Order: sequence, then C-alpha cells, then structure tokens
Amino acid sequence: MEKIAVGMLGFGTVGAGVAQLLEEHKQELQHQVGADVFLKKALVRDLEKPRTGQVSLREDQLTLEADDVLRDPEIHTVIEVMGSVDQARKYITQALQQGKSVVTANKDLMALHGAELLKIAADNHSDLFYEASVAGGIPVLRGLTEGLASDRITKMMGIVNGTTNYVLTKMSQDDRPYQEVLLEAQELGFAESDPTADVEGLDAARKVAILANLGFSMNVELSDVTVEGITSITTDDLAYCRQMGYTLKLIGLAERKNGKVELAVQPMMLPNDHPLSSVQNEYNAVYIYGEAVGETMFYGPGAGALPTATAVVSDLVTSVRNMRLGVSGQHVGEPLNEKHIKPDNE
Ligand code: NDP
Ligand code: HSE
Repeated sequence: MEKIAVGMLGFGTVGAGVAQLLEEHKQELQHQVGADVFLKKALVRDLEKPRTGQVSLREDQLTLEADDVLRDPEIHTVIEVMGSVDQARKYITQALQQGKSVVTANKDLMALHGAELLKIAADNHSDLFYEASVAGGIPVLRGLTEGLASDRITKMMGIVNGTTNYVLTKMSQDDRPYQEVLLEAQELGFAESDPTADVEGLDAARKVAILANLGFSMNVELSDVTVEGITSITTDDLAYCRQMGYTLKLIGLAERKNGKVELAVQPMMLPNDHPLSSVQNEYNAVYIYGEAVGETMFYGPGAGALPTATAVVSDLVTSVRNMRLGVSGQHVGEPLNEKHIKPDNE
C-alpha cells in the first residue's frame, strides 16, 4: 500500500491526539484514503519535556528544526498544532508556497490572516483546511461550506468556547470557585496555553469572525466583533440566574439583517428550557439559521485532544484524497457580500 508522510508543527494536547488517532484508527484511515498515512516528524520546543500519557513517538520523530518538516519533499501535508500567530503564519506560508497542503487548528491565525493564507494556498494549488479552529470536534465549518452551501445564512448563535462553558457549568452546578475550575479546564487540555483569551471572550470572538466569513461570505475582521468575557461573573450571579429560571452562558453571535452585520461575544441569560442552556462542560453548540433550511443546530465536544484531533485528521483525509485525485479543494473567490457592521452594534 502507498505510504504518505505527514509532518506536524507542535506535539502538545492536540498534536498528541492526532498521533493517537493516526495510530489507533489506522485501518479506518487506510480504508478512507487507500493509503497508509504516517506521521514522519513533529516539531517541538523542548526535546527533554516528559510526554507521559501521550502516544510515544520515536526519538527521531521529534525535532527542533521546522525545516525538517517544511523542507522534507516526502511530506505532503503539514499539520499546524503549535498555536501562536507570527511563527505559525510564517511556517504555513512556507509550506503552502512549496506546494504542501496544510491543516491547522489555529483560530487566532485564521481569524487574523485567514483570507491571506487561503489566497496563498489557492495561488500555489495547495489546500488549507481549518475545521478544528471552530468548535473542536463539531464539523460546523463543513456544515456551512458543504451541507448548507446552497442556503443563505442569516444568523449564527452559539457556545463556541469549551473552557468558559466548563467554568460556568462547574461554578453554577457545583458552586465551585472560578480559579479552581479554570485550573481544572487547563489541566484537561481545553484552555489555551494562556487562558486569558478564553475567559475574556477573545477565543470565542475569533471563532465568530471565522464563522461569519464563511457563513456570510464576507471579509469581517476580528476587531468587528464586540467582546465581553466571563471574568467578572461570580457564583452568586449564577445562583441568582438559577433562582430566576435562567442559565448564564457565554454566547457568540453573528447576525445579518437589512444589509448590516452584528458580531458579538457576551454572557447572556437564557431561559432554562432554551436548547443552549443544556449545553454543559466543554461541549459547544452552534445554531445556524438559513433562509431555506430554517433552523439547524450543531452540537458536540468543543475542545480536548481526541475530539479536536477528529477534525484535524478528517481534514487530513480530504487533503490526501485531493492529492490522489490531483485537485486542490477550495474555491477562493472574492467575498459575495460587502461588510457593513452595525455601528457600535446599536
Ligand atoms: P499545546 O500548548 O498543548 O501544544 C503546543 C505544541 O506546540 C507543543 O508541543 C509545543 O512544544 C509546540 N510549540 C509551541 N510553540 C512552538 C515553537 N515556537 N516552536 C516549536 N514548537 C512549538 O497546545 P494545544 O495542543 O492545546 O493547541 C494547539 C493549537 O490547537 C492552538 O492553536 C489551539 O488554539 C488549537 N486548538 C486547541 C484545542 C484544545 O482543545 N486544546 C481545540 C481546538 C484548537 P513543546 O511540547 O516542546 O512545549
Ligand atoms: N480553548 C479553546 C476552548 C479550545 O476552550 O474552546 C478549542 O478551540
């Protein structure tokens, strides 16, 4: 059977999940792509770091040199799961320019430079996939670009950050303090390496920007999203909401009405019988309203090693299939709709 080499930038929570999936689902993946896809090299910062609990890689599979991944002609697809913006942007650009396909989980990067990178991919007949960048294991970007490709999307509303949903769930249900449950979310691998972006709503804002660009075919920017996080929420606030019959959730919203777009992330009190009220722990859910389909909801684990790895490896499957078909998969045209942000989200 043909062997196809993959390189990885980063071997942390998500990277280890990817390696585990490539190993444990080898048979299914061979069946999907008709080839044996194997991890050749993974870039890390520290070769001495203990990596207990992870699928162990051979010593020669870990490297401190990005070029071992980016310049290896045998490597067809590069999986970027290291995070950061500048370094990741540089490496992804290099990989695409060399005709490699790239799969990334990096919402920081895609929210800021997605249009530029997709253009570089198209110019080089390469692919850039980023399903894992929004809502971890939920195939919501595919839902927008494939399942709902024929519709006109008017609104998307959802819980798109697993860490804050975990924190709010535990603070509310178990009356536990904020710092303690945040630490737990970090230990479980849900939070970003610096969880400030999670708790201040910026991570959710990045996802709202990505969803809006795809769903509304528009060039919105991260700065178009108004953002409020959960840092000032107390267990007393949550208890008060409960007494009133409400559940407090951090909601991401993207809405298109009368030619204007509203983009926001904010804590919202939802009635207890609202479907988003029952989304607990690190789970995410995204409601999508389309003119033809009406309402549809995507639900599932929004963070964590294996759920996120399913999105990454599914993108890898598409990347390898495209390679075998001799095509690159994305249509990158000018956005269909002009951006008119509702002034100050009035
Ligand atoms: P981790 O911090 O667990 O892992 C990052 C990995 O990248 C580590 O292996 C680290 O090396 C390596 N790395 C980081 N910077 C460099 C660098 N400059 N040079 C070389 N190697 C580097 O992050 P996660 O796995 O949690 O997240 C990775 C990406 O996936 C991020 O973009 C994140 O936003 C995204 N994501 C994460 C999800 C999650 O649930 N965790 C879900 C969806 C997306 P070393 O091991 O030596 O420290
Ligand atoms: N830190 C992110 C979250 C990871 O908690 O949702 C998934 O994007």
